[in-house]
Amino acid sequence: MTESGCHNAGQTCWSCPAVEFKGHVDFRACGQAAFRKAAQGQLVVECQRRPEIGYFDPNSITFESCSEWQETPDGYLLKDMRVLILGMDGYLGWPMALKLAKQGCRVLGIDNLMRRELVAERGADSITPIGSMAERVAAAREKLGVEIEFREMDLLDRPALAALLEEFQPESIVQFAEIPSAPYSMADVERAVNTVQNNVVGTLGLLFAVRDHAPDASIIKLGTMGEYGSPLTGRPLFEGLFPGDAVLQYQGQEWSLGGELTPRDPVSFYHVSKVQGTFSVYEACKYWWLRSYDVMQGVIYGNSSAELDLDPSLNTRFDIDEWWGTVVNRFVAQAVIGMPLTIYGSGSQKRGYITLRDAMQCITRLIAAPPEPGQYDVVNQVTDVFSVREIAQMVATIAREFDLEVEVQRIENPRVESEEHPYEVIHEKLADRFGFESESAFADEVRHLFRVLLQPEVKARILKQRDTLFPKTKWSGEHGDLEVLETWKPAA
Ligand SMILES: NC(=O)c1ccc[n+]([C@@H]2O[C@H](COP(=O)([O-])OP(=O)(O)OC[C@H]3O[C@@H](n4cnc5c(N)ncnc54)[C@H](O)[C@@H]3O)[C@@H](O)[C@H]2O)c1
Repeated sequence: MTESGCHNAGQTCWSCPAVEFKGHVDFRACGQAAFRKAAQGQLVVECQRRPEIGYFDPNSITFESCSEWQETPDGYLLKDMRVLILGMDGYLGWPMALKLAKQGCRVLGIDNLMRRELVAERGADSITPIGSMAERVAAAREKLGVEIEFREMDLLDRPALAALLEEFQPESIVQFAEIPSAPYSMADVERAVNTVQNNVVGTLGLLFAVRDHAPDASIIKLGTMGEYGSPLTGRPLFEGLFPGDAVLQYQGQEWSLGGELTPRDPVSFYHVSKVQGTFSVYEACKYWWLRSYDVMQGVIYGNSSAELDLDPSLNTRFDIDEWWGTVVNRFVAQAVIGMPLTIYGSGSQKRGYITLRDAMQCITRLIAAPPEPGQYDVVNQVTDVFSVREIAQMVATIAREFDLEVEVQRIENPRVESEEHPYEVIHEKLADRFGFESESAFADEVRHLFRVLLQPEVKARILKQRDTLFPKTKWSGEHGDLEVLETWKPAA
């Protein structure tokens, strides 16, 4: 056990992006969960931050013992670590920038501001007002005393990306810059193509650019739990890769599955694009010794973090319409304006969930403990599994604390999905290997949301876009209104 107890205290220069490997690296992670290090003495490294040390054995210095790594609440972080956030104007990108800047990282973010346009296209807007990026950066300076750099840029602009990596030399890259909506991707061919092109090509171009201009950077790639689907067999949703002792039995023979990618069964064209992203990252780590954590993230809800809560000028965006809102956020908004909470189909569909605050902690902990070169690993980033019906019941119960009587409504399911299915998510790595401890429970987060959404200005913004809340996009491609099947008042 190390002195500090931090999850990454015992990591060595093997994982440090400041280090350049000088010798012959005789291992290839091959994307397998378990991989070998070269035997001691076979290779030496040089530290770009501490050139005075000269060449040394990468196993000889731990993060805890290195003067460049400093203890923070989320583990040791490289001093002034250069973190590039792709998609910084988004729901997750902005709170991530604030948190990392506050922890002492040097944060640079890009965004092409597409999310703002796409939400407007649906006739909606963030219900908590957000400033322009220039205003948010100024607010971060004023309220938090941090400098965040923002550049308006499209991730698909490959020459600009190459120049940016060359100039900034990120030590960690967080890839949020994707179009994250399942219903948007199912609305019509143009939107499906836009989603797939943006997400698949963006990540692919990023991988080549990292290979050529910042190969030591660790890549935190956002995937989604929706990549796995919900297998009717009840097979557990392992963390991306089969555990070492998994076997395939077929016709009397047995094969090991250990370390192989687990099956994917994406549930929309958006999720298909995320699966392709997973394979691109997995292969790039194998071909070029890039290093990445692929984060299979559950559905996020909430709008709170230590930094966001300081002042409304630091708000992150918060969407509630059919395309861009996620279920818990949408239910609270519906409850606030007296609209029934809309459950699709039976409401027995189960998914993994995590609060925004917890998600930010998880990603920070991953940034703090980079994978070794060539290592591709996956974490399932969820804290709870709920059915949609359970969420409606819990939101309705909490709404009563705010004197709101809520109805729940079952409507025809616009999606093509199994409504009754087992759902066993394995989510152990973040707690076991990265020291993650949840800081926010469902009820507290939802109470916080009610307090924010009941503010007259915010409530007025929800009412203004009331029509965007009820779903219209059908996976089947058919048009026409969805039928209301049942409406009831949940028991106390
Ligand atoms: N929010 C969730 O519940 C959730 C759940 C699972 C996974 N994810 C994943 O997390 C990531 C971030 O999600 P989010 O909710 O913050 O989405 P978001 O849309 O709010 O943020 C993404 C940002 O990236 C920008 N962007 C998109 N394409 C770009 C491009 N080509 N160039 C530059 N900028 C671009 C958008 O303008 C937007 O500001 C996504 O990859 C998403 O798939 C989100």
